[in-house]
Amino acid sequence: MAIHTDKISVEKSKTSKIGNVDFSNLTFGREFTDHMFVCDYEDGKWQNPKVIPYQAMSYEPSARVFHYGQAVFEGMKAYKDDDGKVFLFRPKQNFDRINKSSARLAMPAFPENYFFEGLETLLKLDNEWIKPGVGNSLYLRPFVIATEPAISASPANMYRFMIICSPAKSYYNSAVRVLIAEHFSRSANGGVGAAKAAGNYAAQFYPTSLAQQKGFQQIIWTDADTHTFLEEAGTMNVFFRVNDKLITAPTSDRILDGVTRKSIIQLAEDLGITCEVRQVTVEEIKNASKDGSLKEIFGAGTAAVISPISAFEHHEELFEIAEVEDSYAKKFKQTLLNIQHNLSEDKHGWRREV
Ligand code: COI
Repeated sequence: MAIHTDKISVEKSKTSKIGNVDFSNLTFGREFTDHMFVCDYEDGKWQNPKVIPYQAMSYEPSARVFHYGQAVFEGMKAYKDDDGKVFLFRPKQNFDRINKSSARLAMPAFPENYFFEGLETLLKLDNEWIKPGVGNSLYLRPFVIATEPAISASPANMYRFMIICSPAKSYYNSAVRVLIAEHFSRSANGGVGAAKAAGNYAAQFYPTSLAQQKGFQQIIWTDADTHTFLEEAGTMNVFFRVNDKLITAPTSDRILDGVTRKSIIQLAEDLGITCEVRQVTVEEIKNASKDGSLKEIFGAGTAAVISPISAFEHHEELFEIAEVEDSYAKKFKQTLLNIQHNLSEDKHGWRREV
């Protein structure tokens, strides 16, 4: 194992774009901070970690990422409390997951010290971009691309790891209407569904655009074999509330092991809410909707936080879900945001101050 002890070099941006950003009116993922973290893999080693001004990069057209999509990413957020302290939420989970995703795509693991020192250096420089207040966050996008200029269909010998940052409010501005997948699939057994591989997302764009033409924002993906079991929504894992019980699908090689998902499962236990982690069928949820026991469906993800789902369609049959008074989605969102913003006790040690 190569030793990774290079010091992170810093080149500060001479100007800042922050004055041009309307923080009260952000579209997710459109504005980026003044700096980014980059580190290259060459000669069997990650080297030259640096924080530099956010800028365009140039690669040869033959770079493998352009041909074979050898790329993985993460989504995480930094939060600021009213005293100006900055926190990450369960960042080790993201670190472990990006390396798990990389392993699945035959990419080299990134060193833990560079990941955390890179994040800390970047967040100190771009501190002003993290606004205090519940609902504000800085979305962090670590990612790795294969940069080697070579087009044989094999893993690259050169990569770039990067972190870019984008101030964020909510991903969805209102409750989401979803279509349940009947024909298309997000992932297959033994495939890359559990990895945060760039291609998993691109593959959803076409079916999702068809769903959008019908007035749905997202698809809830079903198992590729039978389209019987409800799995995840692509930008978020999904929870079903039947009477007072929550149900969510187990992770597998088809489903992303979401950090928000596992936090909700833990918070449910803390709040005394039963959460069953088991396969859940489309029929079960349709029947629960028909007999009135389906109280809520909501998505959980870093970008999406907790997003209520207000309707779903399957086989041309539409099911509307009325808002409930004692919404679990609202309760989990509030509980989670309070922990993330240092407004409540962090009994599981999920916050990490930077
Ligand atoms: C995230 O929640 O961080 C994600 O990666 C979802 C993304 C497609 C916006």
